[in-house]
Amino acid sequence: MPEWLNLDPTLTEERNQELTRDVLGRLERHVHPMLARNLRLLNEEFIEWRSEGCFVYDPLGQPYFDAVGAGGVFALGHSHPEVVQAVRRQLDRGGLSVRTGLVPGQLELLERLSRLVPGRLPYGYVGSTGTEAMEAALKLARLTTGRPGLVGMQMGYHGMSVGTLSISGISYWREGFAPLLEPVKLVPFGDLQAARAAIDSTTAAVFLEPVQWASACSVASPEYLQGLRRICDEAGALLILDEIQCGLGRTGRWFAAEHSGVVPDMISVGKTLSGGVMPVSALMFSQRVQEAALSRPLFNNSTYGGNPLACAAALATLDVLEHENLIPRAAALGERLEAGLETLRAAFPSLVSGQQGQGLMRCVLTRDPRYGLMISTLLMKKHRMILPSMSHAPHVLRMSPPFICTEADIDRILEALRESCSEVRSLGLPGIDRYIREIGQKLAEGS
Ligand SMILES: Cc1ncc(COP(=O)(O)O)c(C=O)c1O
Repeated sequence: MPEWLNLDPTLTEERNQELTRDVLGRLERHVHPMLARNLRLLNEEFIEWRSEGCFVYDPLGQPYFDAVGAGGVFALGHSHPEVVQAVRRQLDRGGLSVRTGLVPGQLELLERLSRLVPGRLPYGYVGSTGTEAMEAALKLARLTTGRPGLVGMQMGYHGMSVGTLSISGISYWREGFAPLLEPVKLVPFGDLQAARAAIDSTTAAVFLEPVQWASACSVASPEYLQGLRRICDEAGALLILDEIQCGLGRTGRWFAAEHSGVVPDMISVGKTLSGGVMPVSALMFSQRVQEAALSRPLFNNSTYGGNPLACAAALATLDVLEHENLIPRAAALGERLEAGLETLRAAFPSLVSGQQGQGLMRCVLTRDPRYGLMISTLLMKKHRMILPSMSHAPHVLRMSPPFICTEADIDRILEALRESCSEVRSLGLPGIDRYIREIGQKLAEGS
């Protein structure tokens, strides 16, 4: 067992510094020196020691409010007792599956999801990551239609594998890995005419997120999604919605697609499904897709996909979402957050150019990447609030707080943002540049 697992729940200042230095050193030596340097620059070099509810604690026992939750993984907060208990119960019986016998949790999970997704799509595949669910969607799209063409969205994001990067439209992550899958067309999100021009009789499927987080939480309008559905039907192509991040209540409905009434051919879920405890994802699909899948019963497979621990976590998560009535709660908290962010935008016009999103999935757009970075640094340093700016778009601050948080927690986020914006406005860009230079110098001197 690693030594740190045996350490006390709270460390002394000295021991914490020593451990942090050790961990950063390993990050530098075994992963990438730049990552360690960036964490120091942004004041984010704390060790995640334990977590509970809306908070992550460092080894000194200091709480950090988690306003982003790894892009929405922690909808139930951290370590929700019912999810932890379900996983523990399963662990007492055994860990992973031998993949020969039946895993009851996996089939129950698919049955539960099929009752929840738009159109009650009856069939499914259980994986471990969002990427895996979207890779399965890619394969099924080609298998179902016998066509090669894939249409994705500019600024869309579906994962980091070569397949999912091919249909993702963020050059920051695509560059350096060519050749990606072909033929792919990336169209502007929200532009129905462009989609109509791109979709034809060679198109297997169109892939999109109803709320596109990487473009600062742009929301697809109901008319856009309904239009895409029509165009896909006319062309015989499939419509695939990636709800890894926006599904399972994040937008205030079980699925973001419900805001438009659109029923996709396939829909993916992940993140929230984990309950913040075990990695799990799923792809649900229609009868038409199933007919193709029947010719390939093992069209996809993975060692860990749908393992008993993950399924126990997922089923407990669905129970909690239902019996704690968390989805209407997410909708109400989302409205409060939206109203507060609108006030923030109006109060800091020189800093904040806009805010957008749906439910508890929201972004603040600042007018300069340095504003975004500085605000997130201050949030961390002065408010111990985890609300980072986006790595590929540092002018954007994103948040996806837990559904279990209270109105007071939403107000805490807004107050911390207000105070940080106020400080950044006083500093101005020259002050931020000075701050960055000073920190850079300190790091170079090794202090
Ligand atoms: C919309 C969307 N699709 C797919 C993924 C990939 O999921 P994972 O990181 O679990 O592979 C993500 C992850 O952020 C996502 O937000």
